[in-house]
Amino acid sequence: MSEELKKMAAKAAMSEVKSGMRIGLGTGSTAKHFVDYLGAEVANGFECLCVPTSEVTAAQARSLNIPLTTLDEIDSLDVTVDGADEIDDQKQLIKGGGGALLREKIVAAASGKMVVIADTSKQVEQLGAFPLPVEVNKFGLGATQNAVQAIMDEFNAEGDLKVRTDENGAPFETDGGHLILDASFGRISDAKALSDALLNVPGVVQHGLFIGLCAKAYLASPDGVVEIG
Ligand code: A5P
Repeated sequence: MSEELKKMAAKAAMSEVKSGMRIGLGTGSTAKHFVDYLGAEVANGFECLCVPTSEVTAAQARSLNIPLTTLDEIDSLDVTVDGADEIDDQKQLIKGGGGALLREKIVAAASGKMVVIADTSKQVEQLGAFPLPVEVNKFGLGATQNAVQAIMDEFNAEGDLKVRTDENGAPFETDGGHLILDASFGRISDAKALSDALLNVPGVVQHGLFIGLCAKAYLASPDGVVEIG
């Protein structure tokens, strides 16, 4: 996705925030533009209190003097603006390509409204072409992998299961100190049933299927931004 399209979607989502709001800040290359736009408003006197969904976003927000808080200090947010790896016509999402899915889901669930920003290439008829990130505890990794593989077999996954690695080939570690398994399903026909099955595995901390969380999406294409929801 071109940076221009990411910026268009991020800018359109600025219409969702008003001075005085408590705002969840997403993670990823599209959310980064939203945080930049918000920072520019804050420099002009816009008031907000924000919860970042990753250490990377927290550092960016701090550099822009965006006031930050935590979900220990406040119990809810007005709105969260975040990117997505896939979005279907029911606004179900796959997220976690950047590895921030656990905090992203906690923050989205604590928000009155979750708004997704992306380009139209993220729009899919059926979720699953993007490998589903599954965040797992380090303890018992082998047993957890076996259990997730069994679920993949049950759901007729077309691809494989891989432990995510970083640029040095070492296991990628999330902000919470967990690992990520990338599960290539190809197609996910029943996201809710898959979600339930994955959450039933003791070693699974969370997964990147966001069901019933996204209220609105701003999807950018060269023709403009389409608003969904
Ligand atoms: C971060 O963990 C992800 O959920 C991102 O929101 C998602 O991967 C979208 O990222 P981009 O905006 O960089 O495509």
